[in-house]
Amino acid sequence: MTKHPARAWDQATARTIIDSHRAEPGALLPIFHALQDTFGYVDREALPLIAEALNISRAEVHGVMSFYHDFREEPAGRTVIKICRAEACQAVGCQGLVDHVEARHGIALGETTADGAVTVEEVFCLGNCALGPSAMVDGKPLGRMTREKLDHLIAAARTGRQ
Ligand code: FES
Repeated sequence: MTKHPARAWDQATARTIIDSHRAEPGALLPIFHALQDTFGYVDREALPLIAEALNISRAEVHGVMSFYHDFREEPAGRTVIKICRAEACQAVGCQGLVDHVEARHGIALGETTADGAVTVEEVFCLGNCALGPSAMVDGKPLGRMTREKLDHLIAAARTGRQ
């Protein structure tokens, strides 16, 4: 499975990334993507740097970032499981999967296990509607997701057997 970048946050690298995109039209989203690709998340310390580079307010930077579910404010777990909560998957029981993961494994949407092994997030349509409920594990789409499959995926992630 594709693993997430493990590079530790550092401000100098963040500044270089921000500078390399600042002249692009609509630079905010490319900057968020580039920071997340590099560090695995967008550190809070990046927000004032972005605001300064683009000459916009910190509130605006924060508002845009919170609007998009794709951007994380904290490092993700080693395995990221996204559960689709868009309409077609809602119709075939995705909420039951979300509830199960929280009740059985103690991981609510947006949370990471204390051992850093698994992050569970929501996503809105993976283009895999006919095979719903759909999920994505480390970038790989999986259809007909069940509680049992999720249990297996989470157990494998926590024991490092994938
Ligand atoms: S609604 Fe879930 S994959 Fe489209």
